[in-house]
Amino acid sequence: MKELIQKLPKAELHLHIEGSLEPELMFALAQKNNINLPYKNVEEVKQAYNFTSLQSFLNIYYAGANVLITESDFFDLTWAYLLRCHAQNVCHVEIFFDPQTHTSRGIAFQTVLEGITKALQKGEKELGIGSFLIMCFLRHLSEEDAFETLKASLPFKDKIIGVGLDSSEVGHPPSKFERLFVECKKVGYKIVAHAGEEGDSSYIWEAINLLQVERIDHGIRCDEDETLVKLLIEKQIPLTVCPLSNVKLKAVKHMKEHNILKLLRQGVLVTVNSDDPAYFGGYINENYEAICENLDLSREELKTLAANSFKASFLNEAKKRYFTDLVSQY
Ligand code: ADE
Ligand code: ZN
Repeated sequence: MKELIQKLPKAELHLHIEGSLEPELMFALAQKNNINLPYKNVEEVKQAYNFTSLQSFLNIYYAGANVLITESDFFDLTWAYLLRCHAQNVCHVEIFFDPQTHTSRGIAFQTVLEGITKALQKGEKELGIGSFLIMCFLRHLSEEDAFETLKASLPFKDKIIGVGLDSSEVGHPPSKFERLFVECKKVGYKIVAHAGEEGDSSYIWEAINLLQVERIDHGIRCDEDETLVKLLIEKQIPLTVCPLSNVKLKAVKHMKEHNILKLLRQGVLVTVNSDDPAYFGGYINENYEAICENLDLSREELKTLAANSFKASFLNEAKKRYFTDLVSQY
């Protein structure tokens, strides 16, 4: 199975670029930019990655992002991720970035966007990795702040395929941003949202009915509601599931209890992703390996998951067919 996981062409659809900041790069950038980190060394950083909830992770994740200052920092961060993709046979990525995490520290939107975009262009040219960029709004901040971020993005609209919603879920339901997403849709952005990671199934209903999402990020709590699961199957609304993340953040007690295989067998369009790989102990292949080791997944089911990653992507129909045909040859 491990060999098949490595060989299969895959797309990654749920990856926060700030969550790919490895401790080694975090330290190097902190030193270069004269930023104080609350850790003495890389070992101490790794020891701090013991999370009890989404919020306990987010506190550390936002602190880590403080080391990102210049365009070249964002370039280096993105390039390091793309090299990992190349090594794991990921051919297409749709990555999230959190502009408010940086603009709130006085970093210009343009600095963030250009650093990431230049690395993505190099990735396409030199590694053959296709990519789209998705801008996420931080849901713990206000609607007004999100509207300002939307406005800041407009000069760079051609480099951003869509918008998402992330950060602290419980207490910040999709309905808080209904008016914002109506505007995003008018601008022509595609829409996704984190829902049903820690929040209950009502968050998923709101993401579908109020935000009109094309994909749900996480969505694992859908199985509390049979009617919702039926809808996901009928409409083939994809879920971008992140198994290692779910266990690390205690959304799921043990990988053996993860519902990804159950949902797949019911006919939900589930995909496998890494979320914040530098913090959760693995990139995409380690996520596939973790579910194979703990759930009774067949080779055909593994191939279906890889094919789903392309089906659920924002690629055009011809490219989707090209990649799903490629997967079927294994
Ligand atoms: N930001 C980065 N990772 C996240 C996650 N798993 N959930 C919500 N917001 C996030
Ligand atoms: Zn996420």
